[in-house]
Amino acid sequence: MGISFQEVSHYYPGVKKKQYTIALDNINLDINEKDEFIAIVGKTGSGKSTLMQHMNALMLPSKGNVKVFDNVITPKKNKNPKLKKIRKRVGFVFQFPEYQLFEETVIKDIMFAPLNFGFSKEDAKKNAIKTLKLLHIEKLANKSPFNLSGGQMRKVAIAGILSYSPDIILLDEPTRGLDPKGGEEIMEIFYNLHKETHKTFVMITHDMDIVYKYATRVVVLNDTKITYDGNSEDLFKDDTYKNNHLAKPEVLKLVDYLNEKCGYNLDYSTHTLEELLEKLKEVA
Ligand SMILES: Nc1ncnc2c1ncn2[C@@H]1O[C@H](COP(=O)(O)OP(=O)(O)O)[C@@H](O)[C@H]1O
Ligand SMILES: [Mg+2]
Repeated sequence: MGISFQEVSHYYPGVKKKQYTIALDNINLDINEKDEFIAIVGKTGSGKSTLMQHMNALMLPSKGNVKVFDNVITPKKNKNPKLKKIRKRVGFVFQFPEYQLFEETVIKDIMFAPLNFGFSKEDAKKNAIKTLKLLHIEKLANKSPFNLSGGQMRKVAIAGILSYSPDIILLDEPTRGLDPKGGEEIMEIFYNLHKETHKTFVMITHDMDIVYKYATRVVVLNDTKITYDGNSEDLFKDDTYKNNHLAKPEVLKLVDYLNEKCGYNLDYSTHTLEELLEKLKEVA
C-alpha cells in the first residue's frame, strides 16, 4: 500500500480558545503505490487540500493515523518518522506552484529540491535536463524563472517536483488559472508519465471534463467526509454527483441529449467528445 488513512480526523484551531473547525471527519482511504490516477473532487471547503496535505505529512492528523509507505504518521509530533524521506517519495505540486520559484535560473530552481534530498550536483543537473525535456521546455534552462509566461512558470515549478522522481505525485488543482490548451498540455504530460512509469497520481480538480477523461478512480469529499469512492461512470449515472454539488461532464450532457431527444441508446463509456464522435460514426 502506498498511502493509507485510518480513521483520520483533522481540526484547525479557531481564533478563540477551544474553538475549532472540523476539516476532515473520520477518513478511511487506501491509495495504491502504483497504477492509480485518482481525482479528488468536492465543493470549496469540503476538505480536499487538507486531505492531500496529509498524504505527505505536511500536516499531522488530529485523530487516527496515516501510513505513507512504511511510515506511520500519528498526532504525536515527536514520535513521527523522518519526514524528508516521505517527502522524497511523495511529491506535492501545490496550488499555484509558480509562486514558489525563487532561483536565478530555471535549471537552478529545478535542482534545488533534489540537492536538498541528497542528490549529487551532477545527478540533479542530469535529472533537471531530462525533466525539462519531458515538459518540452528545455530551451528555458538558463532563463530567469521570472521572465516566463504563466504557463511556462507552472511547468518549471512542476519540473522541480518531477525531477527527483517521487513514487507518488500529488497535484492540487494543477490546471487552475491556465488557459484550456495549457491545461490540456499539462494533463497529457501527467497522463503519459503515469502510463509509462505506472506511478500513482492524485489530483484535486473542479473540472469534471478532466475527471472524466483521465481519472481511473474518483474520491468525492462533501463537508469533511468521503461520500463516494469509485469509478467515474457510476458517479454520474444517478444523482450522486448532484447530491455532492458536482457538475456533469460535457460529453455526458451530450450523450443524455442524444438519448433523450434524438432516439439514440448510448452508454457512458465514451469519456471525451472525440470518443463520442467516433462512437457516433460507428452507430450511424
Ligand atoms: N489554515 C486553516 N485554518 C483554519 N481553517 C482552515 C485552514 N485551512 C482550511 N481551513 C478550513 O478547513 C475546511 C477545509 O478546507 P480545505 O481543505 O482548504 O478545503 P478545499 O480544499 O476542499 O477547498 C474549510 O472549512 C476551511 O475553511
Ligand atoms: Mg483546496
